[in-house]
Amino acid sequence: MDYSRRAILGAMGGLAVGGSLAAMSGTVIAAPAAPAMSGGKNGHFAQMGGEFGWTPKKIDDIAAASAVAYQGYWYKGYGCGYGVFYSIIGTMAEKYGAPYNTFPFTMMEGFKGGMSDWGTICGALAGAAMAFAVFYPRKEVTPMVNELFRWYEQTAFPIYKPGDAAQGVKGDLPTSVSHSVLCHISVSRWSFATKLAANSKERSERCGRITADVSRKAIEILNAKIEAGKDWKGALSKQESVTGCTTCHGKEKMADIQKGNMDCTPCHSGSEAVADKFHNHP
Ligand code: HEC
Ligand code: HEC
Repeated sequence: MDYSRRAILGAMGGLAVGGSLAAMSGTVIAAPAAPAMSGGKNGHFAQMGGEFGWTPKKIDDIAAASAVAYQGYWYKGYGCGYGVFYSIIGTMAEKYGAPYNTFPFTMMEGFKGGMSDWGTICGALAGAAMAFAVFYPRKEVTPMVNELFRWYEQTAFPIYKPGDAAQGVKGDLPTSVSHSVLCHISVSRWSFATKLAANSKERSERCGRITADVSRKAIEILNAKIEAGKDWKGALSKQESVTGCTTCHGKEKMADIQKGNMDCTPCHSGSEAVADKFHNHP
């Protein structure tokens, strides 16, 4: 069987295309008077403390926060997103109390395994991005996320060494560079390169240590942002592939048919790993 998207589209034939065109040219429903949502007007509730109303605090002891992130990963198995988020907002809560301690931290368990083991975004990165977004609106968060995600794509993980506090396995672990912010690619590449199973204790330990690594980088970014304010800029430039491919693929360019800023190479380089595995495999 051919499961490819093209084959499925082919099987659905003109119907799908006709249907979506009809929907596009269909009746336009008038929008109601500008809804205020959490801004608290026109009968909507007002977010307590206002939108982006919490003040971020610098975290001085980054090494301590890394250890907290690592412990948070293991704590009841809440995982990477919880660990990173707790190491940032939880550290503020431990030092300053409210409002930081009112956050429903366990919500961050949702990011475990790239969101409920779906292997989408690396939960450690998601936890950090959410912590940034507690304080800053999108325009200010995006450069922070860019810096963190670009660093993650090109770093050999894991770096953190828990020593005797190791909760999965002790000692050094082999590293690999994922070139991807996706849990699936990050874990799978590491497992393939190291021959350590994706469902092994070693892999859990790896992700616990990456939780500490991402926490450290995220806090460095947050501290620098607090210091520099609106003008903060990251140091890392766009990936070579993204720069190259988006000369033509992007808004108002030759082919505006792709979305995103992930390194294009893992998926579009034609490597053996992304070739057809539905036939003559293994
Ligand atoms: C010189 C301009 C240009 C550059 C650079 C470019 N593309 Fe394209 N690409 C196009 C055009 C034009 C199309 C056809 C668009 C259409 O059919 O609507 C296309 C189509 C595609 C397609 C769909 C068709 C196919 O061949 O599968 C993919 C996937 C794609 N590009 C990926 C990439 C990636 C990844 C890079 C960077 C390595 C890249 N492109 C760089 C112009 C470019
Ligand atoms: C995580 C894997 C992944 C990454 C990273 C990725 N792509 Fe894709 N991309 C895909 C997949 C899968 C499709 C759908 C392919 C299909 O239609 O069969 C796709 C579709 C596209 C298409 C539309 C063409 C089509 O055939 O559907 C373009 C153009 C494209 N990607 C360009 C890029 C560029 C440029 C980058 C980097 C900025 C990039 N992609 C990063 C996996 C990826």
